[in-house]
Amino acid sequence: MKRVLVVDDDLVICKVLVKILESLGYECEDAADGVEAVARLQAADFDVILTDMMMPRMDGMQLLSHVKSSYPGVDVIVITGHTDTFVYSNIINAGGTDFISKPFESDELEAKLSRIFRERKLIQGLENEISEHLEAEEKLLAAHREVAAANQAKDLLINDLYATMGEMLSKRDHYTFEHATRVAEISKRIGIALGLPQEEVEILERACLVHDIGKVAIPDDILLKPGQFDAQDRKLMRVHPRVGADLFTRKHHDSRIAFIIRHHHERLNGSGYPDGLRGDSLGILVRIVAVADIYEAFVARRPYKKPMSKDEALDLLRMEARQGLVDKMVVTVLDEVLRDWDPLTISREFAADYMVDLELFRRKAYFREPLTGFYNYRYLYFLDDTHVLGRRERPFELLLTNFVDLPECYRRMGQILTEQVLDEIGQGLNDAVEEFNAQEGSGEDVVRLFSRSGDYLIYAECGEGQIDHLFIAISAHLARACDEWQISSHPYSQRFGKGYSLEKALTELLRC
Ligand SMILES: [Fe+2]
Ligand SMILES: [Fe+2]
Repeated sequence: MKRVLVVDDDLVICKVLVKILESLGYECEDAADGVEAVARLQAADFDVILTDMMMPRMDGMQLLSHVKSSYPGVDVIVITGHTDTFVYSNIINAGGTDFISKPFESDELEAKLSRIFRERKLIQGLENEISEHLEAEEKLLAAHREVAAANQAKDLLINDLYATMGEMLSKRDHYTFEHATRVAEISKRIGIALGLPQEEVEILERACLVHDIGKVAIPDDILLKPGQFDAQDRKLMRVHPRVGADLFTRKHHDSRIAFIIRHHHERLNGSGYPDGLRGDSLGILVRIVAVADIYEAFVARRPYKKPMSKDEALDLLRMEARQGLVDKMVVTVLDEVLRDWDPLTISREFAADYMVDLELFRRKAYFREPLTGFYNYRYLYFLDDTHVLGRRERPFELLLTNFVDLPECYRRMGQILTEQVLDEIGQGLNDAVEEFNAQEGSGEDVVRLFSRSGDYLIYAECGEGQIDHLFIAISAHLARACDEWQISSHPYSQRFGKGYSLEKALTELLRC
């Protein structure tokens, strides 16, 4: 119910006002002056105060000022007969809601009170609307925040998925993952330096992480080959951009990602693969990745190749730019990017044991005969390339145990038995080499056995006296085996000076 406090020191007027107001449906209390009114206000809530001006102890103006500072929500209507002293504007400026001069009609009082409550209703309605609006705005903001957080989580998940795909490939070839991570960071930095929009930089990064994903389709013999590719290897290797791009074309990925994967080996003059695209059809994103890809491959350290220095790699890229193969501007920006940052600082950590085991497997897969486990000649070149051999600093000896009457043996014993005999002889030679290494070899000596289509080759770097002991053991084993199986062998050895080319040495030995 609407509550009104009537304040007047004239008891009769007070009673009359209360009566009128109660007849209008208001709940009323009365007070004889400002002091009593303050006490009433402390005890109960009121919507409106109807107050006289001239009163003892606390007059109407003092009461008005007290109400406005302590109860700003309460409306005050001043009723006075002293209209010469209290004018409307003074009352309103002091915070009063309205003014009634005595004598007054009850209709005027009713109208003014009705207006106050009508306005209150309107204000309350507006306040409710504002607060509903604010609440809705807060909900909208919270929803926006949720969507932004969900988008961020989605982006992180997508980035993770791309990294995971790259990592999956690394389980077959861990260098590919390291390569992809570096290519992604190089490309990202070039993109930022070129002022590309953030969204395109993200596309670049994701595409780079998976740009070589098509290598999952390459057979181990080629993918893990720790040496130069031949024409056939290269032909097979060249399918990887198409295989990779196909994976991303069929799914709901951004088409720019599939484009980068498919065309990262294209060259501006059309000499690249798989489609021989040229010039403008290769956008800036794929041009960046092509340069980053080449640079990383140049400077990366791998067990099967020597890394180039940053300057050598940049010189070569500048030359390729002059030849119209890669984008000149991208190479210039790469140069700037590399001034205070080195991509080789990105290095994927692998457990040392895992690396060793994986590297051994690679060598086994590529360098060892699958059935016998003997290392082949390519392994000898690999050891030389990776400086395991000390021939550049020390003389070395090569011993070849060729079997001259193999065609006759095949005729006599058949292919399977002949090959078994050869394997057995090789095993004996291997035992002799291992025994020599265990008993006589020093930490610096390198004595190893290699097999090549039925022949065996021993590479030895050790003192001359030790070589004699080794060759005596080898000859004894050969003599026994040849006697047993009636095979002829003419072992032949030759010593070469330090620094002598391994290739030349082998050619000379095989010619004898
Ligand atoms: Fe590639
Ligand atoms: Fe690559």
